[in-house]
Amino acid sequence: MPAAIEIINLTKTYRSLFGLRQVTAVDNLNLHVDEGEVFGFLGPNGAGKTTTIKILLGILYPSSGECKLFGEQFTSSSAFAPETADSRLKASIGYLPEGPYFHEFLTGREVLAFYGRLYGLGGQNLKKRISETLEIVGMEYAADRLVQHYSKGMRQRVGLAQALLSDPKLLILDEPTVGLDPIARREIRDLLLKLKGLGKTLFICSHELSEVEMVCERIGIVNHGKLIKYGKLVDLAFKDRAVEIHVASLSDETRKKLEALNCITGKHETGLTSIRLPARQAVYDVLDVLKASSTDVVEVLSQKESLEDLFIRTVKEEVA
Ligand SMILES: Nc1ncnc2c1ncn2[C@@H]1O[C@H](COP(=O)(O)OP(=O)(O)OP(=O)(O)O)[C@@H](O)[C@H]1O
Ligand SMILES: [Mg+2]
Repeated sequence: MPAAIEIINLTKTYRSLFGLRQVTAVDNLNLHVDEGEVFGFLGPNGAGKTTTIKILLGILYPSSGECKLFGEQFTSSSAFAPETADSRLKASIGYLPEGPYFHEFLTGREVLAFYGRLYGLGGQNLKKRISETLEIVGMEYAADRLVQHYSKGMRQRVGLAQALLSDPKLLILDEPTVGLDPIARREIRDLLLKLKGLGKTLFICSHELSEVEMVCERIGIVNHGKLIKYGKLVDLAFKDRAVEIHVASLSDETRKKLEALNCITGKHETGLTSIRLPARQAVYDVLDVLKASSTDVVEVLSQKESLEDLFIRTVKEEVA
């Protein structure tokens, strides 16, 4: 089965107005996202995330390299022309742009009708999809008001409804919860989890790291257009983290053996004895010593790094 997204040696260079200055927005980027996966694409402002997304969607041309969606590539700029391979590929992708902009003199429902027709939907089917998506994003109550009277969060919700219209297999979301209040954020997060449960592939670009942490299985962190961290969140968050083992008590002989393994032993506030390991890798050696001495192991705790700490450390390490 081809990957939902495959990015191969992708580079994008922008030229300034008079061609005097070049900005490398994406720098030899490689990544893939499997079908059904929820991937978090992270990076500081200006890292190249939106540029990558636009190339993925065929909105921008790459300077070099290529992108494939479900094993296919956009071949022309006429992606919305009916019955082309590009239009079929596009119908399998839902896209929420960064800060979506809609025509101010249309109602939310009319906006969705407009986008639905671009996806090739029409008639009763389109009406049904509009009602369903409005319900999903909680906007039925304001569907017939003009967009110009919508708040930021309401525009964002209509943007999400638009991305869901064609019931796509892959959703590419650029900052899906920006501008939303905490209740709406929670609702959108629940919606993303629901979509994940339905087997959709999600590619989420977000600065809301606690949210990404709750929804995404794998992440990629980009900086200056380069991928600087990439992998399963659980592996990245626990890698190189300290481990602490709590035991009922320790004999002097066992304590000495543990100290020879560079462990630090002490009294924990619960009255248990704590053993701090120098690195995760030592855990099996330490457990072997404890097992051989029949020590009563109460708990093994692994410190986890939050995504926020991981993100800041990764970006700062790159700068240093
Ligand atoms: N049309 C353009 N012309 C020239 N430079 C551009 C253009 N669009 C983006 N850039 C530059 O490319 C780099 C990457 O921008 P991009 O919008 O992809 O970043 P981003 O990761 O999406 O940032 P943010 O988190 O702020 O949305 C930045 O240095 C930006 O100034
Ligand atoms: Mg962006």
